Amino acid sequence: MHNATQEAYSRVRNQTRLLVEGLSPEDMAAQSMADASPAKWHLAHTTWFFETFILIPHFPSYKPFSEQFQILFNSYYESVGERHPRPQRGLLTRPGLDTVLEYRNYVDRFMDKITDDERKEIADLVCVGLHHEMQHQELLLTDILHLFSNNPLFPAAMEKNETRPAANSAALQMHSFDGGLIEIGALQQGFSYDNERPRHSTFLNPFRLANRLVSNEEWLEFIADGGYTNSLLWLSDGWATCLRERWYAPLYWREQERGWMHFGLDGLKPLDLHAPVCHISYYEADAFARWSGKRLPREQEWEMCAAEQQIQGNFLEAANWRPLAASSMSNTQQLYGDVWEWTQSPYSAYPGFKAEMGALGEYNGKFMANQFVLRGGSCATPIKQMRNSYRNFFYPHQRWQFSGLRLAEDC
Ligand SMILES: [Fe+2]
Repeated sequence: MHNATQEAYSRVRNQTRLLVEGLSPEDMAAQSMADASPAKWHLAHTTWFFETFILIPHFPSYKPFSEQFQILFNSYYESVGERHPRPQRGLLTRPGLDTVLEYRNYVDRFMDKITDDERKEIADLVCVGLHHEMQHQELLLTDILHLFSNNPLFPAAMEKNETRPAANSAALQMHSFDGGLIEIGALQQGFSYDNERPRHSTFLNPFRLANRLVSNEEWLEFIADGGYTNSLLWLSDGWATCLRERWYAPLYWREQERGWMHFGLDGLKPLDLHAPVCHISYYEADAFARWSGKRLPREQEWEMCAAEQQIQGNFLEAANWRPLAASSMSNTQQLYGDVWEWTQSPYSAYPGFKAEMGALGEYNGKFMANQFVLRGGSCATPIKQMRNSYRNFFYPHQRWQFSGLRLAEDC
């Protein structure tokens, strides 16, 4: 009979296994850019996390699967020791995929033993490890998508669950919120990362927030109106990046004779005009908002509006593998799922922030410079990973994540 921790452990580990079922060993070994990692590395690194932070310190008779894996699969934990450089993860043809899968099984067997006695300290650490693995499930998908986008055959990485007919998107409306003194941040109960804490008061001026995400159709209007060629719409760093990278459309848009196509995990498909725009950088989102005469939301505004909603939407488990059009008439829809929403909030510490003790203190806090917060999760985010207070963060030039935007304005 399995306890709750063991059940959660096998559910998450199994979900990772299912995500790579349709991938070949060659698919899983390649690395398409420095920001992305091979799927094989994700499989090993998530396993390394359980081995390093749970089995080695808390299971006295545990012997590491391989001393060398301690270096190969450490991501960024300086206090744990030496690391293999991130841009060279794709060069690790050894260990082979079979050995990495053996490593997963080996660690799983010991994890089953260590979680058997239901110690709270262990259960809490397993919870961190599972949330970590869920984050890597999304990264595995976004990294595979980037890798496959470099293949002129445009292969589909994932099979679709079912085809939902393309819906018309609801008319864009701005809804008013009073603001005032509000509370944001993680609640006491349940899992949260240190960067979501402590819960605290903050003051918001009255604001308006769009009822849905910005659509591909609206993005086409931005392009047609010279959005990518008018420097006045862009932040200086953004304009320099736009010129240097020769941006003219979102990352996975391809212009063909029959019109705009969009490459996704399910292959190359005609652009769905009503679906939310996706794979845009902060700079592009910001330029679009300026072109619209509006602005990006603050993360506190997003959290306040989303707090009243149930966490449901187009997440990984729906197996749509791409964002879908908003169809309901509710005042604020698509807050959860579909695409991560860029906010104008710099990723920084909340008042009273304290990093976790020990090596896990390196998980979030040390990245609090030069990045922006994204909210709400995407079609590649496991639903159990999502919380109202969850803060994702990326650099403003990055666009290989499922990132889009929602408009806001001051009242
Ligand atoms: Fe990690």
